[in-house]
Amino acid sequence: MLILAMKLLAVWDIQAILSTFLLLQADIRDKDGLEKVFASARFDAVIHFAGLKAVGESVQKPLLYYDHNVVGTINLLEIMAAHGCKKLVFSSSAAVYGSPKNSPCTEDFPLIPHNPYGRTKLMAEEICRDIYHSDPEWSIILLRYFNPVGAHPSGYVGEDPCGTPNNLMPFVQQIAVGRRPSLTIFGNNYATKDGTGVRDYIHVVDLAEGHLFALRKLFDSSSNIGCEAYNLGTGKGTSVLEIVNAFEKASGKKIPLVMGQRRPGDAEILFSSPAKAERELHWKAKYGIAEMCRDLWNWASKHPYGYAASESPKLNGSSR
Ligand code: UFG
Repeated sequence: MLILAMKLLAVWDIQAILSTFLLLQADIRDKDGLEKVFASARFDAVIHFAGLKAVGESVQKPLLYYDHNVVGTINLLEIMAAHGCKKLVFSSSAAVYGSPKNSPCTEDFPLIPHNPYGRTKLMAEEICRDIYHSDPEWSIILLRYFNPVGAHPSGYVGEDPCGTPNNLMPFVQQIAVGRRPSLTIFGNNYATKDGTGVRDYIHVVDLAEGHLFALRKLFDSSSNIGCEAYNLGTGKGTSVLEIVNAFEKASGKKIPLVMGQRRPGDAEILFSSPAKAERELHWKAKYGIAEMCRDLWNWASKHPYGYAASESPKLNGSSR
């Protein structure tokens, strides 16, 4: 639920959101809690962001991942159906593709996730497809995120991982603010332009906007969407060294590098074809690597220790 708040905040004016939106908190594994939320108001649609997302942790604790990401999704769908709310945007992941043999990756590529996290996302997708086939009143959009990076340009909303960051850029940002000494590059002997892995990094604001375009599609009376998957990426592949260099440029900080072994399970090259989202959702990513790094550094330099030790956004009056 916190993820929901953060990604929506990335799009609109923060103070307006805080004074307009009602925040109800519930754990998706707690059906009674969800029932209370749905009984409290009428919902036209749900954007389902809640879930666990660390690939490595999912290998260590698969049951935890199946519980949050699969059982939680089933609970949510049951409560939605019971309340006649049958429009859903679901946060899926490029992890459902595993390691495709080539990129750009289109939505009809084979779905062969190779870790429990990816399998939970694929199972949730399959459940969505099944409920749509059982009841065509549902309309569901599955958004397959590539590699989200950056922060809200205000510098007030950003990623604050607990413990050691699992992903590249949160790790890099902690090096830049002096919390960690160096970055280990996981393999520099891939068959890529500079030997390092290639990914499709997408600005979190572009990603957040993708959800608004998806919602719009669900409410478009001229089309019956059914249950459809869309890639949210830029369609551009960037290597680890390229994005680290871009961050050094944006921050003016040197990121010390150590060349290490390949990380087991890592794809060599994975980037999207966003053509289907452009064509059918009319969404297209606007920002490039330079803006992602600029906004990430703006957030990191204002909040070197994340939310806990940082200044909160200044709020007008007592609307919160
Ligand atoms: N990398 C390093 N050093 C690090 C961390 C990462 O070299 O300390 C490299 C990786 O090897 C990879 C690239 O940086 O080449 C990006 O790695 P991330 O861990 O940031 O992201 P992944 O591509 O592995 O995974 C991300 C999300 C998953 C999602 C997947 C879909 O974390 O949730 O994209 O492709 F499923």
